[in-house]
Amino acid sequence: MSQEREKLRSRLGFIFLAAGCAIGLGNVWRFPFITGRYGGAAFVVIYIIFLLIFGLPIMVMEFAVGRASQKNVGLAFKELQPKGTKWSIYGPIAIAGNYVLMMFYTVISGWLMYYFFSMAKGSLTSVPTEAIGAHFGALIESPGTMTLWMIIAVVIGLGICAMGLQKGVEKVTKYMMSALLVVMILLVIKSVTLPGAGEGLKFYLLPDFKRLADAGVWSSIYAAMGQAFFTLSLGIGSMAIFGSYIGKDRSLTGESVNVILLDTFVALMSGLIIFPAAFAFGVQPDAGPSLIFITLPNIFNSMGGGRLWGSLFFVFMCFAALSTVVAVFENIISYWIDVHKWSRRKAVLVNLVAIILLALPCVFGFNLWAKFQPLGAGTNVLDLEDFIVSNHLLPLGSLVFLLFATSKRGWGWKNFLAEADTGKGMKFPKWSRIYVSYILPILVIFVFIMGYIDFFS
Ligand code: ALA
Repeated sequence: MSQEREKLRSRLGFIFLAAGCAIGLGNVWRFPFITGRYGGAAFVVIYIIFLLIFGLPIMVMEFAVGRASQKNVGLAFKELQPKGTKWSIYGPIAIAGNYVLMMFYTVISGWLMYYFFSMAKGSLTSVPTEAIGAHFGALIESPGTMTLWMIIAVVIGLGICAMGLQKGVEKVTKYMMSALLVVMILLVIKSVTLPGAGEGLKFYLLPDFKRLADAGVWSSIYAAMGQAFFTLSLGIGSMAIFGSYIGKDRSLTGESVNVILLDTFVALMSGLIIFPAAFAFGVQPDAGPSLIFITLPNIFNSMGGGRLWGSLFFVFMCFAALSTVVAVFENIISYWIDVHKWSRRKAVLVNLVAIILLALPCVFGFNLWAKFQPLGAGTNVLDLEDFIVSNHLLPLGSLVFLLFATSKRGWGWKNFLAEADTGKGMKFPKWSRIYVSYILPILVIFVFIMGYIDFFS
């Protein structure tokens, strides 16, 4: 008889872990700069609609597939699929998606830790403005520094996984998420009370659909959809794994709502930290990815107590990033444990080497391989990897979960609904069957294609 699967210790542990997987660079880095680029509040409105109509049902499906199969995504489809069907082909592809995500995610996590270190040391405060830009330039031009900090991120993430599911992954994430929420509230209070913060609040909170139209309607919708999938880590089984670690006492729709609320809360609060501060110091919020590495350190530089606030800000960023790294690493590790019957120790050690090597192209993309510009002038390996994951694997993988959970030739609506509704709490609405079976898949494909056309035109 097979050994019973290890479970999480508490419900809070599960919610913090799933939320930790969701809350990450997507909320604290990608969300503010994309919102800045697509014109503020109007974009936020579209984003929230996508979370509800796309994100929620698909998250319930991922959790259901994980909980019913009690397996990693690498085996889950095989466990649940009807005889003669081939859904299980998607298992290893989903795991590959987790690797591609970590190939750049660990690099950016390394940057954040490096910035925390620089802030705490005082190298970014009381310096001329040019020194801040030069600091970032020096980081991305140095393959050595970037590799070192990427390795630190990988070692911390896998180290926590090596400590075990309950004692490492669950416990450490619970502490990190609690600390993140406290630090975040402090930062929000500081930012919205800065003199001149009001303009930033207006930009962020009052929808202006004209600004959105100026940025391109389809581009904005496509970006909002990509962001909804990215922030919830949907489509590659990194939520499904936590479904496989819980019991049947809670319904999955209720749990998904909790996770999405926490995730959205952190994204919105990140905006409340960044936009008022940016406007208060007269800087444009559409700087793109360098927003938090150049724009914000400049703000801390000119702010009283900037060293403390800057350090707190990067602690917040590091915890958000690391909670995702730990969760996705756990999914990767459990793949090797479930599918290939490796010990946790072996899975951690082999992946330590593998992930460090896999992250190197992203590091080199900024310096040694900077001539390689795969998506047009100025782009690099990170853009390519992000494009593969965010614009392809996440939405198309979500489509696989959708079809699998609703189609007769897959796991099917009845099985899905029975699993989702087992336990106390909110039930999955039965009236939504037509919507999730037909309309939602078509919507995902439609927006995917339109966005693609837009991207390349
Ligand atoms: N869900 C993760 C994030 O938002 C990938 O960063």
